[in-house]
Amino acid sequence: MTTLKLVFISLLLLSVASHASLALRTQLHSLSESSNSNNYLTTQELWFNQTLDHFSPFDHHKFPQRYYEFLDYFRIPDGPIFLEICGESSCNGIVNDYISVLAKKFGAAVVSLEHRYYGRSLPFESTTTENLRYLSSKQALFDLAVFRQYYQESLNLKLNRTSVENPWFVFGGSYAGALSAWFRLKFPHLTCGSLASSAVVLAIQNFTEFDRQIGDSAGAECKAALQETTKLVEERLASNKQAVKTLFDAAELEIDGDFLYFLADAAVIAFQYGNPDRVCSTLVKAKNSGDDLVEAYAKYVKDYYLGTFGSSVQTYNQKYLKDTSLNKHTGDRLWWFQVCTEVAYFQVAPSNDSIRSSKVDTRYHLDLCKNVFGEDIYPEVDATNIYYGGTDISGSKIVFANGSQDPWRHASKQTSSPDMPSFLISCHNCGHCTDMRGCPQTPLSLEGNARNCSSPEAVEKVRHQIIEKMDLWLSECHADSWSSMRRRQQLEEEEEATEMMKLVLISTFLFFLLFSTSHAHLAPRTLLHSFSKSSTNSNRSLTSKELWFNQTLDHYSPLDHHKFQQRYYEFLDYFRVPDGPIFLKICGESSCDGIANDYIGVLAKKFGAAVVSLEHRYYGKSLPFKSTTTENLRYLSSKQALFDLAVFRQYYQESLNLKLNRTGVENPWFVFGVSYSGALSAWFRLKFPHLTCGSLASSAVVLAVYNYSEFDQQIGESAGAECKAALQETTQLVEERLASNKKAVKTLFGAAGLEIDGDFLYFLADAAAIAFQYGNPDKLCPPLVQAKKDGEDLVEVYAKYVKEYYVGNFGVSIQTYDQRHLKDTTLSENTGDRLWWFQVCTEVAYFQVAPTNDSIRSSQVDSRYHVDLCKKVFGEDIYPEVDTTNLYYGGTNIAGSKIIFTNGSQDPWRHASKQISSPDMPSFVMSCHNCGHGTDMRGCPQSPFNIEGNAKNCGSPDAVEKVRHQIIEKMDLWLSECHASGRSSM
Ligand SMILES: *[C@@H]1O[C@H](CO)[C@@H](O)[C@H](O)[C@H]1NC(C)=O
Ligand SMILES: *[C@@H]1O[C@H](CO)[C@@H](O)[C@H](O)[C@H]1NC(C)=O
Repeated sequence: MTTLKLVFISLLLLSVASHASLALRTQLHSLSESSNSNNYLTTQELWFNQTLDHFSPFDHHKFPQRYYEFLDYFRIPDGPIFLEICGESSCNGIVNDYISVLAKKFGAAVVSLEHRYYGRSLPFESTTTENLRYLSSKQALFDLAVFRQYYQESLNLKLNRTSVENPWFVFGGSYAGALSAWFRLKFPHLTCGSLASSAVVLAIQNFTEFDRQIGDSAGAECKAALQETTKLVEERLASNKQAVKTLFDAAELEIDGDFLYFLADAAVIAFQYGNPDRVCSTLVKAKNSGDDLVEAYAKYVKDYYLGTFGSSVQTYNQKYLKDTSLNKHTGDRLWWFQVCTEVAYFQVAPSNDSIRSSKVDTRYHLDLCKNVFGEDIYPEVDATNIYYGGTDISGSKIVFANGSQDPWRHASKQTSSPDMPSFLISCHNCGHCTDMRGCPQTPLSLEGNARNCSSPEAVEKVRHQIIEKMDLWLSECHADSWSSMRRRQQLEEEEEATEMMKLVLISTFLFFLLFSTSHAHLAPRTLLHSFSKSSTNSNRSLTSKELWFNQTLDHYSPLDHHKFQQRYYEFLDYFRVPDGPIFLKICGESSCDGIANDYIGVLAKKFGAAVVSLEHRYYGKSLPFKSTTTENLRYLSSKQALFDLAVFRQYYQESLNLKLNRTGVENPWFVFGVSYSGALSAWFRLKFPHLTCGSLASSAVVLAVYNYSEFDQQIGESAGAECKAALQETTQLVEERLASNKKAVKTLFGAAGLEIDGDFLYFLADAAAIAFQYGNPDKLCPPLVQAKKDGEDLVEVYAKYVKEYYVGNFGVSIQTYDQRHLKDTTLSENTGDRLWWFQVCTEVAYFQVAPTNDSIRSSQVDSRYHVDLCKKVFGEDIYPEVDTTNLYYGGTNIAGSKIIFTNGSQDPWRHASKQISSPDMPSFVMSCHNCGHGTDMRGCPQSPFNIEGNAKNCGSPDAVEKVRHQIIEKMDLWLSECHASGRSSM
């Protein structure tokens, strides 16, 4: 008898999304204490240190997170690793459900990570609303990414090897099913695929389909009985409240809504977990024999729901939900917090033919959220669906599975495509997560046995399809790793000339290293200012008419709803009303004073596109704060900027629809960016594939690099032997004079203000870099080489170049290199320098250090110089989390699709870009003497600025035109595929 009860209770583990699962959660503690080992593959706890706030650029706090591993079936050393995601409950082990069958079959290791805040993975000692600010699905997904990496590395250590990647596959049911789908969506480079069982991927404010499905699952007779019961309960609540509540042992539920919710859930659970006959036969029998339906229902609730099933009335009592101490109700409070901030799933009564009481409405839920967590707490359902795409989720290699009787399936993805198959398991008692757990789920079927499902074949058929997909995707993943990288290179080598081949070989080699963007950017930024200021010539920009909208300040906080004003531009002259594409030109690390008239003007004309452009948060006039103290910069990151773009994209589409007097229409979008904004362009398609048909990522610096010595090496290659030698000699002479007469040499360059030698040497290095980066090598090399031949003073000749060209024509400000200036937190023209250094010092580094030998720049420009600069300018705790950035985006292993990468052969930044090509992510290098940064969009050279990015001054205009042709081909294809796909037909 006792054992039976334990088994019954164990279903609690298998919790689900929402209130129904809250009941389950209550019992988990008791289960784990008395756990029968057959119910788990393992209950042996393991721990590791997890980052508390993944979205803060400078908070490095950690908390201990619990996990499990099960290696009995693992095929050493290359078997797959199955990550079973734990959801909204204490995770007391790896449950022995169908995953053990799969693990045995595939020779897989199984690991499982407890969800932050639940069970024992506690960041705080109480659950005040303020303490819950890091509780969200977005943080939880990042937890999984960090854990995945940690576990792979610790396994490699155990197996005495490094850098090996086993093929991973993620699993989850219900809310954890959504996490499983979302993990593959957001971190495709970290898993070969995902099983998303009863995955509730759609956040819904008014989830009326939930109640309707209960009616459908119940059938006409039972539904009528349930409806009559509700009506009778409502009548008795009006006449004798206390009596009817007492009848259900629920007198403690003072709020009528809580009581009615409790009664509704008690019925739900029967259908959700495959026990429909428990409630239906009782009620139908009572109705047919003229018994009191309310009494019959009360008996069911007490015997089954509160008894066998093990739920608790307290779970529905807002008084307990308000309790912020850690106790057995904590899980309930935590899940309600997630419901009240991110996903809602409010199971409200439909306006007619409802089973539950109409008093269980939106108002009831919103009041509960306020009452339990505070006035400002409400769910940001739209933001959640913008972030994940809802049922428009545009991931790949995700299997969705749902049970026909499960009311949650209407929050899941039920339409199928080859890359995201969705299976419905149809049978009388097929409920939530039937594929993994069998039927019914009380008692739990070990190994998810399907024998008690009313149609075991229906379950087995879907399982067969799951295995087929897993087999395929795991093998593709195996093939897709390092070995195939070589195969892809060979394909390219056939296509490209010998020179190209060299580049590819180099890039493959670099692939294994880490590197990256930076100071050189600051220079172009300065230039951009002068563009815009002197842009009396309107040809330089398509438009400079400012528009504004309100942007969310912190996209990753579940409870902060602050907004700030963000600036944008639109250009509609070429727009083919109403269905032309919309080109989103991403602005990067500078003031965005208009839409520059570069090659995008040509593309827009060609495609009949609207062009819009959003200023990057914090830069230019898009200011959240009146000063730039480090504390104020806490929302400055690429992650926030990408979410800005998503929100803006949605806002602009809606306002365009409004203008065109229509609703729900989606134009095909395409995103563009150069340099850092090129990385944003690639990352936007990676993280928000449902919001754009494709991306052009020009000179996109997608790899964060700590010691970016390849930057200096590329300058040497681009310069050629003679010029390189002259540059090296110049550096050596400058260093000597710095030692003998510091003041004199600094003054010679007009840079006496740069007191720190590192700043001065960085300035000199950048002055040379800029010539190659922006296609003007001839301004630098010929004079220097000639001077060397003529035995002139190289330092004086270089000083002339720096003053006349870099400071003069190019317009850089020497202050840009002065750390004292970078420390200034007041807003000024040059605030952009400080802002970009903040991004460099926290996320991407791209520290352009001197290589250990054959360096052009002074060896004093080393990583120490950069790290010191970060500390001095922003504070002791500020350093770049390069590994985390690459974990988040995948670095050059980026696993997106429909992204075009382009780079210039002479551009030192290209080694932080993706230079390996695949059909879905082609990468083109434009090779010519002055092909630099963003040449495809801007032509050559980039000072003076070429209108429409004219390529005629490029050393090989054909090389540029050829790549542009390939860009247009891909855009054509992807835009038409986007048109043809679901969106427009919706
Ligand atoms: C986690 O961090 C704490 C405090 O720094 C340390 O004592 C502990 O050893 C770490 N645990 C693991 C598993 O690394
Ligand atoms: C690990 O591998 C290295 C290189 O193959 C070998 O020298 C070393 O002995 C191995 N260590 C262990 C503990 O197996």
